[in-house]
Amino acid sequence: MARHGEGSQQEHWEATYTSAADFFGKEPSELVISVLGVMRDSGAKDVLELGCGQGRDTLYLCRNGFTVTALDYSETGICQMGERAKEWGADVTLKVHDAREPLPFPDNTFDVIYSHMFFTMELTEAEVASILKECWRVLRPGGLNIYSVRNDHDPHYGKFEKVGEDMWRNPRGFIVHFFNEEKIKRLSKDYELLWIKEFEDGAPPFLKRLYEVVLRKPQA
Ligand SMILES: C[S@@+](CC[C@H](N)C(=O)[O-])C[C@H]1O[C@@H](n2cnc3c(N)ncnc32)[C@H](O)[C@@H]1O
Repeated sequence: MARHGEGSQQEHWEATYTSAADFFGKEPSELVISVLGVMRDSGAKDVLELGCGQGRDTLYLCRNGFTVTALDYSETGICQMGERAKEWGADVTLKVHDAREPLPFPDNTFDVIYSHMFFTMELTEAEVASILKECWRVLRPGGLNIYSVRNDHDPHYGKFEKVGEDMWRNPRGFIVHFFNEEKIKRLSKDYELLWIKEFEDGAPPFLKRLYEVVLRKPQA
């Protein structure tokens, strides 16, 4: 499968965001609403969001008082969010970056790393492990890594064109990597795994089943 350029997932996201200004809707996701309290209670201020897309959760986090750096490899999504952030007067730092490359931040920079449906994209288990390691590096001791992934109870698990281990391409052309609890535990190495909780997003025929995962970088 093409990883860059023509036919790649990156190009597919560019085309998707170009044709739909609010591809995931204007409302914040179930995940960000669910974890806002946890983030507040931890005393977090500086948040890095991975795979922010068009920014529905980014702007919600800004509105709720966090200082957000938002990263995505889709320049289109990042530009659309930049425009919206200006309209709303939201102060957000935007980065176009492929997270398979080292994260462009110094060690111990963020209190929280947040991502909704980012690790569940076309990333192999080895790539997810390497990004989680980078997250660990840029998190402050005691910082949280909060993410969601589609799981093995999802209606699309095992359906359509198989393109890799636990990865299938759906009829809309998106490659999705599905996770079970064992894989999440295996990938949580070096973190404290605080919880894995199942939740649903959307409604049939686009119902998704996901895991909310909360990891903590141990205090030094
Ligand atoms: C399912 S979308 C979710 C977008 C956003 N989190 C939301 O819920 O509205 C996944 C996002 O991850 C981005 N993405 C996928 N692979 C990436 C990579 N290797 N580096 C950076 N961004 C990536 C895509 O461009 C897309 O915006």
